[in-house]
Amino acid sequence: MMVGMDMPMVLDGVAIAAEIKAEVAEQVRELTGRGVKPGLAVILVGNVAASEIYVRSKVKTCGELGIYSEMLTPPESVTTEELLAMVAELNQRDEIDGILIQLPLPKHVDTKRLLEAVAPEKDVDGFHPVNVGRLQSGQPGLQPCTPAGVMEMLRRRGIPVEGKNAVVVGRSDIVGKPMAMLLLNASATVTVCHSKTRDLASLTQGADILVAAIGRPGFVTEEMVKQGAVVIDVGINRVTDERKFVEFFGDDAARRTTFAKRGSVVVGDVHPAAFAASSAYTPVPGGVGALTIAMLMANTVKAAKLRRVA
Ligand code: GUN
Repeated sequence: MMVGMDMPMVLDGVAIAAEIKAEVAEQVRELTGRGVKPGLAVILVGNVAASEIYVRSKVKTCGELGIYSEMLTPPESVTTEELLAMVAELNQRDEIDGILIQLPLPKHVDTKRLLEAVAPEKDVDGFHPVNVGRLQSGQPGLQPCTPAGVMEMLRRRGIPVEGKNAVVVGRSDIVGKPMAMLLLNASATVTVCHSKTRDLASLTQGADILVAAIGRPGFVTEEMVKQGAVVIDVGINRVTDERKFVEFFGDDAARRTTFAKRGSVVVGDVHPAAFAASSAYTPVPGGVGALTIAMLMANTVKAAKLRRVA
């Protein structure tokens, strides 16, 4: 470690998510008292293991916060037309404030068409083109949960964004692009990098705020991080290979125990050794992941208020 450098601050996503959820629960109590119980419908197609885990967690959190939820679980063989009919019905139902279609969908389903069928005022994922457009033009609307959670985390921990150099690695519709837009709207100077970017390290080395959302384990390494940068790791990657485990975690005893017990551990898009140079970072697990669900709950309540409360 360099002389005179403080230990980085760990940005505890679980703790911040708990703050957000407590506030959301209070809003739910208030709305329910006025006869408006917020409701979320989740569509989960087929049997993708990771999606099942995420969806179960979303439904469970609804229960904890007093939000009504229901899960629709059509089989893998469902057609686009059948899914469109489900969405149309959910659009019509007054007690459903949020509609979430868990991604990814099977290849034969027209994902874009389906996302466009969700009523924009019920689009708690912020994926509808109307909400994408509102985000890009700085108008109020529903915003994608993961990047919105990152902004909320920065705000709640007093990390300034205005005038900072922010580098987003990854350009997905779910994280990278909306993340870049939120940072830009908050007056950061934003660079978006991706798989075709040349000399990536020279760009990430200029980042005051570095967001990794590429979906590749340990992709961001030590030499790519500027001393004192804020490092946000959006990646959730499962490592099952022994050599990879050692490469990422060396002799980390706690993780070794997990690895021995489960045959896998989770690593982010940032190599664990790269956090040392940062002034603050999000761990994996326990960082951004917890915030995504908290923001989904917040979006559901926001949608209920906007649509049902005068
Ligand atoms: N799959 C991975 N992340 C997400 C998300 O934020 N929303 C939905 N609907 N599906 C996802």
